[in-house]
Amino acid sequence: MSTLSFLLEGLRNIGTTGTITRSGTALCRAAIDRIDFTTARTIVELGAGDGVITEHILQRLHPEGRVIAFEVSEDLCDDMRAIGDPRLVVAQDSAEYIRTYLDQIGAEWADHIVSAIPFAALPQDLGERIVTAARDNLRTGGCYNQVHYSLKTKSYYERAFGRVDARRVYLNLPPAWVLYCRK
Ligand SMILES: C[S@@+](CC[C@H](N)C(=O)[O-])C[C@H]1O[C@@H](n2cnc3c(N)ncnc32)[C@H](O)[C@@H]1O
Repeated sequence: MSTLSFLLEGLRNIGTTGTITRSGTALCRAAIDRIDFTTARTIVELGAGDGVITEHILQRLHPEGRVIAFEVSEDLCDDMRAIGDPRLVVAQDSAEYIRTYLDQIGAEWADHIVSAIPFAALPQDLGERIVTAARDNLRTGGCYNQVHYSLKTKSYYERAFGRVDARRVYLNLPPAWVLYCRK
């Protein structure tokens, strides 16, 4: 998907996309930092959009690895399906249903989780359900990396994971944050 199409999708559904711009290269790289790609076989992505971060994950993922990418917009899911990588499972569903999709691929845990869900734009109870499902289905020692444009919902991750390290990514339009948690 082009930057222009993402902008149009953002304008149409700002309540769920939370932005009109997709993550730039520096932000995508920061979003997958701290992930151990030598051992990871199951990575779950929440709020994958058109797959801009997904493609960075796929570039580094083991040939036998899988990425389950959650996205609620049908158009954005179509863009991800067009990536055409057999390791990618597009979950056109809300991210709270992580367990169902892990079961479908026979995975006990997610080794790592990357999220760009705009929790500040969603109802708090839905946001907390998603973060709890992420924590409960993450392998002990796995990373939960969250992309954000503000620190408004940092308390969600502190409640679920305890310690949260926040890194500012200035080389993005607009400048963003990545919050790093570990189970
Ligand atoms: C800020 S955009 C990020 C898109 C892309 N990952 C990127 O970094 O540019 C957030 C995405 O989360 C999706 N989203 C919102 N609520 C969701 C939910 N409950 N489950 C899964 N995806 C959701 C939106 O449709 C949107 O595409």
